[in-house]
Amino acid sequence: MSIGKRVSLAAALSLAGLSTTAFAQEVKEGPGKEVFVQHCNVCHELATVTTQRHTGDEWTDIVAHMMQNGAQLTEAERVAVLGYLTKAYPPDAPAGTPPAK
Ligand code: HEC
Repeated sequence: MSIGKRVSLAAALSLAGLSTTAFAQEVKEGPGKEVFVQHCNVCHELATVTTQRHTGDEWTDIVAHMMQNGAQLTEAERVAVLGYLTKAYPPDAPAGTPPAK
């Protein structure tokens, strides 16, 4: 009987190793996410972006504005980030994504 208890304790301990990172929840999944994470937190937190909701046209203007600010994006990266932002953060997306600390 006591052997069964020991086995379940071991199982519980190994489950504790399955930790999820809180950070990953701030940024929505989607194609282009890597480019976004890599390039858009150089000068400010990603939350500056992920708390906003915009149409594709507005995101186009914002990314162009960031490139004037100094963001270094190739044309392919610009398109990838735009596609990502337009899909992940449109005006009708829930405002639920909490800002980073
Ligand atoms: C070279 C520095 C730099 C990089 C890289 C950069 N930004 Fe910014 N961003 C700024 C600065 C400076 C501000 C605040 C002043 C301004 O709006 O120009 C800002 C502000 C913002 C804002 C808030 C604008 C507002 O009016 O509320 C958004 C949204 C934003 N950035 C999106 C992005 C995105 C998306 C990327 C990645 C493509 C990005 N930024 C990369 C410099 C940068």
